Amino acid sequence: MIKNNLKIYKNLKVIVTGSTGFKGAWLCFWLNLLGARVIGIALKPEKGSIVFNKFSLSKKIKQIYLDINNFKKLNEIVKKQKPDIVFHLAAQSVVSESYINPIDTMRTNVIGSANILETVRLNKIKNLIYITSDKCYLNDGRKTSYLEDDILGGKDLYSASKACAELTFEAYHESFLLKKRVLSYATTRAGNVVGGGDMKKNRIVPDVIKSLKNKKPLIIRSPEATRPWQHVLEPVSGYLRLGELLINKRLSASLKPNWNFGPNPINCKPVLQVVKEIINCWGEEKKINIIKNNQFKEAKLLMISNNKAKKELDWTPTLNFKDTIKMTVQWYKSCFYENKVEEITRKQIEYFSKR
Ligand SMILES: NC(=O)c1ccc[n+]([C@@H]2O[C@H](COP(=O)([O-])OP(=O)(O)OC[C@H]3O[C@@H](n4cnc5c(N)ncnc54)[C@H](O)[C@@H]3O)[C@@H](O)[C@H]2O)c1
Repeated sequence: MIKNNLKIYKNLKVIVTGSTGFKGAWLCFWLNLLGARVIGIALKPEKGSIVFNKFSLSKKIKQIYLDINNFKKLNEIVKKQKPDIVFHLAAQSVVSESYINPIDTMRTNVIGSANILETVRLNKIKNLIYITSDKCYLNDGRKTSYLEDDILGGKDLYSASKACAELTFEAYHESFLLKKRVLSYATTRAGNVVGGGDMKKNRIVPDVIKSLKNKKPLIIRSPEATRPWQHVLEPVSGYLRLGELLINKRLSASLKPNWNFGPNPINCKPVLQVVKEIINCWGEEKKINIIKNNQFKEAKLLMISNNKAKKELDWTPTLNFKDTIKMTVQWYKSCFYENKVEEITRKQIEYFSKR
């Protein structure tokens, strides 16, 4: 939920890393609507990904294709651009991929993220929002939600890389970045994000959408895994709200710099329910084939508490589970069958902002 219309971003210079990815592209699109001058840093859009091109971001932002592991070039860009704020979203973002490419996962998610912290430090960039994941918490099998100061850790490489990224942030924050009175750097942890445009392999929503669109068999491997589902506009609105408060120097340094932007517990649902709801919104019959396998181990249940963001940032999730899935399916349908992506995205942002 947005408490005001985020006017602060008008004409602000903003760097978004991960601009060609799912969440980064939504953030860039929204920032562009707010009148920000956006510089995107990312790899070229992955094969099969659609969101960067469908949003026409190459015309709306200044896009620089760069591997964030290249510190020298990254630092040159940040030094030249001197942004007012950096949103860092670039990452290897999928658990299963971390089993296939563990070193690349660690390199980008840990060293690449350290490169962002170092360039922000060297160039005295005033504000930073550093996106990690709900998977940064050590999953001890609890049935309750994780709080911001719970223990970090990971039993798979992706989760470990996100915990390491958080620890690296904390060490930078304590060593160099901590300001006396106010916070200006923050980390954020969101849940399982869904929404139009995600085409990533091995993510449940894109997998279901692709099987519906291409009329291919639908196979589900972890029907009971329960996740905190949220529409992409929820965490992105949290990043924008947090950024606004950092820029306005409204958050006391007595607050810890880590923030969960998870959905309310009622949005935690098993995968099977999500799949059924997508099929229902799509409006066609579809057989669900359940083939359980444990090729890639993932925690069964993971919830994060959003109480701190509600209390300190005046941010709260807005969309219920049905709306979340409905808006997601509407976006894909509009994209595939009407080719009106920019229009539906603008409408969804407007609808969301008024709630
Ligand atoms: N999507 C989710 O459900 C979810 C949930 C929690 C946290 N996250 C985190 O949010 C962030 C964004 O997620 P997403 O879903 O948009 O991911 P995504 O995979 O769609 O996009 C990743 C982006 O990072 C860029 N990138 C990857 N490696 C890079 C490198 N070496 N140098 C420069 N750019 C690089 C890609 O080009 C792309 O722009 C990630 O940090 C992810 O781990 C995502």
